[in-house]
Amino acid sequence: MSELKNDRYLRALLGQPVDQTPVWVMRQAGRYLPEYREIREKAGDFMTLCSTPDLACEVTLQPLHRYDLDAAIIFSDILTIPDAMGLGLHFVPGEGPKFKNIIRSAADIAKLGVPDMEDNLRYVMDAIRITRREINGKVPLIGFSGSPWTLACYMVEGGPSKDFAKVKGMMFDAPLQMHALLDILAKSVIAYLNAQIAAGAQSIMLFDTWGGTLGQSNYQQFSLSYMQQILAGLTRENDGRVVPVTLFTKGGGQWLEMMADTGADAVGLDWTTDIGSARQRIGDKVTLQGNMDPCVLYASPDRVEQEVANVLAGFGEGKTGHVFNLGHGIHPTIAPENMTRLVDSVHRLSERYHK
Ligand code: CP3
Repeated sequence: MSELKNDRYLRALLGQPVDQTPVWVMRQAGRYLPEYREIREKAGDFMTLCSTPDLACEVTLQPLHRYDLDAAIIFSDILTIPDAMGLGLHFVPGEGPKFKNIIRSAADIAKLGVPDMEDNLRYVMDAIRITRREINGKVPLIGFSGSPWTLACYMVEGGPSKDFAKVKGMMFDAPLQMHALLDILAKSVIAYLNAQIAAGAQSIMLFDTWGGTLGQSNYQQFSLSYMQQILAGLTRENDGRVVPVTLFTKGGGQWLEMMADTGADAVGLDWTTDIGSARQRIGDKVTLQGNMDPCVLYASPDRVEQEVANVLAGFGEGKTGHVFNLGHGIHPTIAPENMTRLVDSVHRLSERYHK
């Protein structure tokens, strides 16, 4: 495999000194880019894009052609696992992801098995292999998965939800059944991420998008403990390099200490948490990723730069320990030029903090 030319992102995740703060953006390949919309239209639908490795590779690389990003994230989706388990994923325009077969009972859960990673999910591994080849060591490639709780939310709700009534109802009414579901998901996620690492993913991100909807003890029992199991089951070294793991619970600002205790190398922050306080609380243990409000990108480029400066100053002095990102995914309707300003100002303005 070719030598990694820019390893700032991996170094910062491992607490090693860097010359500038590395930056990447959640959902950096996506609908805010006209070139994405074009290829997406040609492919017809989102899942065709994900499941055609050459197209997934092309879309992964699109934001790197425009912006001086320090990492790429493989173009895919967290819902590939439930789809491979036989739930029948499809996307309804204007409504988001939907499943044909929804998990409603213990019998539904008993039918689920760990998918074969080089069969049902081979397209993800092929996309990673092709992308590693095409990226040619420019920047590291991130692999990812949803957390078991977040996947369970979609599998039990059947799609997006405002109140999570069905999945939380199952959790409160039939906790053992919920644990059985989370257990098979945790085993699947471990196999999935280890296959991604073997295929060439150089860092891993766990998206716990809906962990923040839980109360504290339920968060510990039904989300965090499964992420901890996953961390314990991952191959943490490949090809002579550590494969760092970032754990992101959206809305998890009050549980940062617990997240930092899981053995993750980095914790992702959404924009509701002050990054300076987060650093005081856990920043000596893990690297912090985040956390500009994605809506700042609706303001002027100058305002974007000012907010980048605020986040960098909020993290403060130190040679490492921060990966700049948004606090959640980039919105599809922002102006792509604002991303140029974001990335350039992170690099330019962060230099003084690394001396
Ligand atoms: O970050 C990246 O650039 C990599 C690609 C990526 C996508 N989804 C592409 C995508 C990643 C990391 C995800 C993760 C994902 N998917 C999450 C966790 C992260 C988060 O945002 O909290 C979740 C909850 C999903 C489930 C999902 N997939 C949703 C809610 C949607 C949006 C539906 C909509 O129409 O708004 C998707 C589809 C999706 N995944 C798109 C992209 C670029 C848009 C699909 C399109 O082109 O229409």
